[in-house]
Amino acid sequence: MTPEAALPRCLRFRGGKLEMEGVALASLAEKYGTPLYVYSWGDVRRRIASYQEAFAEFGVLVAYAVKANPNLCLLRRAAAMGCGADIVSGGELDRALRAGISAERIVFAGVGKSRTEMAAALRAGIRLFNVESIPELELLGSVAKEYGTKAPVAVRVNPDVDPRTHAYVATGKKESKFGLDIRAAIEAYRAASAHPNLDPIGIHCHIGSQITSTGPFVKAVEKIGRVIRELRGLGIEIRFLDIGGGLGIRYQDETPPAPAELAAAVKPFLKASECRVILEPGRSIVGEAGVLLTRVHYVKQTPIHRYVIVDAAMNDLLRPALYGAYHPIWHVEGKEGRPETTCEIVGPVCETGDFLAKGRVMPLPVAGDLLAVGSAGAYGMAMSSNYNMRLRPAEVVVDGGQASLARRRETFEDLYRCEEVAEDE
Ligand code: LLP
Repeated sequence: MTPEAALPRCLRFRGGKLEMEGVALASLAEKYGTPLYVYSWGDVRRRIASYQEAFAEFGVLVAYAVKANPNLCLLRRAAAMGCGADIVSGGELDRALRAGISAERIVFAGVGKSRTEMAAALRAGIRLFNVESIPELELLGSVAKEYGTKAPVAVRVNPDVDPRTHAYVATGKKESKFGLDIRAAIEAYRAASAHPNLDPIGIHCHIGSQITSTGPFVKAVEKIGRVIRELRGLGIEIRFLDIGGGLGIRYQDETPPAPAELAAAVKPFLKASECRVILEPGRSIVGEAGVLLTRVHYVKQTPIHRYVIVDAAMNDLLRPALYGAYHPIWHVEGKEGRPETTCEIVGPVCETGDFLAKGRVMPLPVAGDLLAVGSAGAYGMAMSSNYNMRLRPAEVVVDGGQASLARRRETFEDLYRCEEVAEDE
């Protein structure tokens, strides 16, 4: 497959120049500098809508997984489309609320919720706490008692299903730290229903991320359906079925199912559950909608490799270094007539693990070239850091042919914001 054949819908080459929604990416690099994240709102909107339509008959709540890309501009726009939020921290709660996502559309997962985070979420009045252990359930009960309220609870069930994905992002196998196995979950529901400050109204599972077939979802939902029936037998009325996120995207040659295919595959089980369905997609909403623009600093030929040293690094996009992830890389312009060559695309960070691509065959890059790293909209900026005292990139959102700055590039001043230094030091 040629790299161009793999272009996501929001990108295309016109006259040899790469554009997003008709906006030349080179002009954005010129205006805002590099490294630069650029997102297509048109693409994000389409993907949200496709989930909403595919699951409409289940009164679906699309609770966008904030962790994938917490940019406020995107969150506000998602809120306006009726999205909720899947959050995993007090910081994400604050951000979701600030973006205008109403509390009754927020679900809170995570194995280590603190008392402070529980209190904030209770005060806000979120839809569901997705509880992952008995001690967490007990703490939630006591915090709810303190506030004189009842916490809406779903137990996160670990259905022991192999999602066939990278080991670091598989969450629904029995050896993982997430959720409770089916027997333990039933016990947790018994405890919750006996507690005056807990209201067990939902059930949750999230089996992993970057899942590229419907099979694992079907297996998980089938098992959860059995749990729902068992709970009803015990008089515990489950009304919300949260099947998590996890649908994959195309990085290289994957052919992940569309939301409609996922919906078709799990439909019988969702129907039988008679529940309102909650989804928590992150990557499949924003992943393919984003690129990271980076400029080539130098090309260095060693006896072994051709190193293409670019101005983006593992601090800007950690996925290749952390997971060995593949991201497509395109020349934004001017690649015509360049010979194909094998390159190591690396950043300026002082680690051998700092690479964006290894052994990549592409038209020979030269100093000054602008490259676009594709499928970078999810877990890109979200996982960025200031490692090596590097300033995090700016973010731009393109909508209907117009580009606007959604987050400015950091400055050196930003790097000192939290530090205390005595005058005489
Ligand atoms: N719900 C829960 C409870 C989650 O833990 C996650 C992701 C999601 C929903 C959203 O999953 P998605 O639809 O985005 O697959 N940093 C990794 C991915 C980590 C995913 C963590 N949990 C990566 O870059 O591949």
